[in-house]
Amino acid sequence: MGNAKLYDNHGRAINYLRLAVTDRCNLRCFYCMPEEGIKYLPKKDLLTFEEIERLVSLLATLGITKIRLTGGEPFVRTDLMQLIRKIKAIPGIHDLHLTTNGVLTAPYIKELKALGIASVNLSLDTLDKTRFHTITRRDEFENVMNTFEQLLHYGIPVKINAVIMEEKNIDDILPLIELTKYKDVSVRFIEEMPFNGEGNHYTQLTWTYKKILAYIQQHYPTLQKVTDPDYSTAYHYVVPGYRGNIGIIAAFSRTFCGTCNRIRLTAQGTLKTCLYDDGVLNIRDLIRSGCSDEELKNQLLNAFAHRPKDGFEAEERRSNHKPVSESMSTIGG
Ligand code: 5AD
Ligand code: SF4
Repeated sequence: MGNAKLYDNHGRAINYLRLAVTDRCNLRCFYCMPEEGIKYLPKKDLLTFEEIERLVSLLATLGITKIRLTGGEPFVRTDLMQLIRKIKAIPGIHDLHLTTNGVLTAPYIKELKALGIASVNLSLDTLDKTRFHTITRRDEFENVMNTFEQLLHYGIPVKINAVIMEEKNIDDILPLIELTKYKDVSVRFIEEMPFNGEGNHYTQLTWTYKKILAYIQQHYPTLQKVTDPDYSTAYHYVVPGYRGNIGIIAAFSRTFCGTCNRIRLTAQGTLKTCLYDDGVLNIRDLIRSGCSDEELKNQLLNAFAHRPKDGFEAEERRSNHKPVSESMSTIGG
């Protein structure tokens, strides 16, 4: 099954699907979820593994070659490894990546390596146990660090994702950079996006990518820019002599939309062609109404032909004209 090349209405190649397998999570990162009163989706509203497999197989024939499993926390979903094995076996899917908070991940790392996982992104905003608890509202720091060590041990490419937040983890920026001194790890600092599922949003972001960069340069005057991989959302840097690298992701400033190659599937089976849209196609209902592969394919292609040019246009097109308020755990982080 050869992969076609897939382009959107702005001439951007689409080859990357971010797939949220659940909206549930075993942490409560305050920038992502409210502490209490979260309304999780009923399980019947989630796509089944069979539905996911069918959809991914179809997308692979259209041109998707890379998949990232995300959530919520993927490992909260029962039998996640079974889904991973199935997806790895789909012709045309060359790269499978995973984003995890690392709480439950460690026991599966050996098999992930054997299956040929391309990389794992570990969400870790601090190296301090107390601050970890303040940010995530859970006491799981040791488990996450164990997952980090195991990933390095098995030689799986690791990226650490740290959301940078005023008054929360600014003191972690330098220690996180120091991790790259001896370890082959990419540490990425992410602009906080002002939505956490509570519907509240602030319009001013203090720690923009520019401020994060200036802060790092102030402490590492020899910081060097290095080439960014194609389609990368991060600006990459190295401290000369350090083994790993540093990335800065302008998730809120949205400087990278021009080369956006990604689409998203939410946990309840809604297609998003931009992180900032409010869902452009209810794939779950189409599948459950008995839709043929041909019809599904046409609907997908139609959605790809109407992509907003960037996250700002996507936000304007939202049906309620309100900025994004849903949590990243339903969108797929
Ligand atoms: N702003 C930026 N990143 C977020 N994530 C979740 N919520 C936000 C937010 N409000 C990211 C975290 C995590 C991934 C699952 O989603 O960095 O790594
Ligand atoms: Fe869970 Fe990730 Fe959201 Fe934290 S950011 S609550 S780890 S889904």
